[in-house]
Amino acid sequence: MNQKPKVIVSAPVPPDLRERLAERCDIVEVPTGQNPAEVLGADERAQIEGMVCTVRTKVDQALLDALPALKVSSNFAVGFDNVDLAAATRRKVLICNTPGVLDGAVADVTIGLMLCLSRNLVAGDAFVRSGAWTKGAFPLTRDIRGKTLGLLGMGRIGRVVARAAQAFDMKVIYHNRREDPQAEGLATYVDRDELFKTSDVLSVHIPLSAETRHSIGKRELELMKPTAYLINTARGPVIDEAALIEALRAGTIAGAGLDVMEQEPLPADSPLCALPNVVLQAHVGSATHETRRAMIDLAVANLMDALAGQKPKAMVNAEVWQARA
Ligand code: DGY
Repeated sequence: MNQKPKVIVSAPVPPDLRERLAERCDIVEVPTGQNPAEVLGADERAQIEGMVCTVRTKVDQALLDALPALKVSSNFAVGFDNVDLAAATRRKVLICNTPGVLDGAVADVTIGLMLCLSRNLVAGDAFVRSGAWTKGAFPLTRDIRGKTLGLLGMGRIGRVVARAAQAFDMKVIYHNRREDPQAEGLATYVDRDELFKTSDVLSVHIPLSAETRHSIGKRELELMKPTAYLINTARGPVIDEAALIEALRAGTIAGAGLDVMEQEPLPADSPLCALPNVVLQAHVGSATHETRRAMIDLAVANLMDALAGQKPKAMVNAEVWQARA
């Protein structure tokens, strides 16, 4: 009788899905975010063929060496900056992710941050609760209607944000490595500097990589209007946070809405927490019951498909799959 493949589960897999996975695989639990190389013994590690994990698991050369039989690692995330992709591809480990199912949820948080900043909604809530309203009116805020939304990165999430912005009568411009035919009629392509100079709200939708790390720094922030807002729902390290804090203190830009930061979880003593012109969220772009369920369904399906020799729906290094085929 064929043995079931051993797989690491290091992500919140709901009980019904875990049962289905257990019919096909032998599950080895690793608490979310912990390093399987530290949690499991060498004998067990040597038998692991698959893994489903969050972005808190570093799938680097050391972990790949510690899991010599690994064939597939399925990220419970669309982002895969936790993976050394070159090392995984060299080792012929297939990397899967969850694109498509979280676009709406992340776009919603982007629009929410934009409204919080332009209408000062978070301060407005505190104003009412503190009784300050009884002493005078809340200061006037700014419309987003008729303003220009700039999108750095026009992929699936950027396109949903662009569509949503149309409901607010915003003009949408974008910059991408190349023009996106699917953006036609939704947004106008501009060069990178133009994007920073012209946007009233600039929203970041690029993945984190060696090229994009700190790609928004002092220079880009100085190109922006002093009335402009910067929103990041992608990955914290694409922005040079020290430069951003400086720009927010100096009034180089008007404010920032951040769902992601360089250090997560963000400690309360971060200078960001003391800035009145910042709205912060706890990396919750995709964190709704519905979206997280769709993500874990896809992540587990990717894992099971790959181990069963069926093409997974979402692969990051599809060349590994093609080479196997
Ligand atoms: C993603 O899917 O990449 C989210 O940011 C969760 O990490």
